[in-house]
Amino acid sequence: MIRAGIIGGTGYTGAELVRLLSFHPEAELTYITSRQYAGQIFSDIYPALRTIADIEIEEFDLKKAQNRCDVVFTALPHKIPMEIIPGLIENKIKVVDLSADFRFRSIKSYEDYYCEHKAAEYLEKSVYGLCEVNSHLIRNASLVGNPGCYPTCSLLGIIPFIKHKKVNCDDIIIDAKSGVSGAGRGLSEGTHFCSVDEGFKAYKVMAHRHRPEIEEKIEEIADQKAGVCFTPHLIPAVRGMLATIYMRTSTDTSESELRNILCDYYKNSRFVRVLGEGEFPNIKNVSGTNFCDIGIKYDNGSKRLIIVSVIDNLVKGASGQAIQNMNLMFGLDEAKGLMVPPQAV
Ligand SMILES: NC(=O)c1ccc[n+]([C@@H]2O[C@H](COP(=O)([O-])OP(=O)(O)OC[C@H]3O[C@@H](n4cnc5c(N)ncnc54)[C@H](OP(=O)(O)O)[C@@H]3O)[C@@H](O)[C@H]2O)c1
Repeated sequence: MIRAGIIGGTGYTGAELVRLLSFHPEAELTYITSRQYAGQIFSDIYPALRTIADIEIEEFDLKKAQNRCDVVFTALPHKIPMEIIPGLIENKIKVVDLSADFRFRSIKSYEDYYCEHKAAEYLEKSVYGLCEVNSHLIRNASLVGNPGCYPTCSLLGIIPFIKHKKVNCDDIIIDAKSGVSGAGRGLSEGTHFCSVDEGFKAYKVMAHRHRPEIEEKIEEIADQKAGVCFTPHLIPAVRGMLATIYMRTSTDTSESELRNILCDYYKNSRFVRVLGEGEFPNIKNVSGTNFCDIGIKYDNGSKRLIIVSVIDNLVKGASGQAIQNMNLMFGLDEAKGLMVPPQAV
């Protein structure tokens, strides 16, 4: 059994890790931490998990993590993981970090959009945990930077076409929508029921931190500068994320050729489902699961490829993908513990 710990286990991604790990056949939860809730029982905070996760929450202590964990998930706000992860790695504990601290290759990009990096030497050692693209690297990694939710949703749609050099990467438009759980469990005026219910708004237009992450990953594959115009929106839903991506093709092509590229890229993927002609995905169909559903349309006249991609921000966009990464890091089937059937209704 893999002994798993969650640092920052009482937030939304932490709770989702607890839910999924509770039924993982080859992992057991041995350590959950939080500052505010230390000493309390996890299922008292999240009563849906009563009898499933009646585990005591503790304060973080490196020695305890060292004695009890083979892998640690850091489900913390950025800046905190970089302070504790070096200690975990030095003690031979594998780490999947859900924050942005170890996602970037470029220190400058991280520091321009987040804060000063105090463990920058670990950026080189970390692997970007987009499982469908980097599984060969993740298998040998001891530190994985789990991708952001918008980057996961967007890059899974974009990367197959970049790899086939079918699209221009200097003019990509991503119009994306997220459920409110994307903002985490902390209280804020913008996420009040009255602010969100029956509302629908754009936020952080061209100023969202996930844009440089998306651009960096496209540039690494395309080996040229990427230009992404990124507009995120908040929708009145708890979970779910949809990205509509517009790209111009660089060579003569057709919708069926483009669909074949996508189907071929994901032919062995357990979690990416490519939809048929005229079909477009719905966040409802992936809710609570690690699936990413993708539909495409090609407009011959404008040479524009339109990709619609959906995930559950808390699962494929965070905790599900983090467990998929753990599975790869420990040589397991990547889908172990993650084949939760979607709710059909
Ligand atoms: N929500 C999403 O959809 C999503 C998707 C992808 C990635 N992420 C990333 O995943 C990470 C966690 O997100 P979340 O949505 O789960 O956040 P959250 O709901 O706000 O939970 C944060 C957790 O970290 C702990 N914490 C907060 N401040 C801390 C500090 N200064 N020192 C130590 N512990 C602290 C909190 O517990 P205490 O305050 O009790 O310690 C809590 O357990 C973030 O980096 C976020 O960007 C989130």
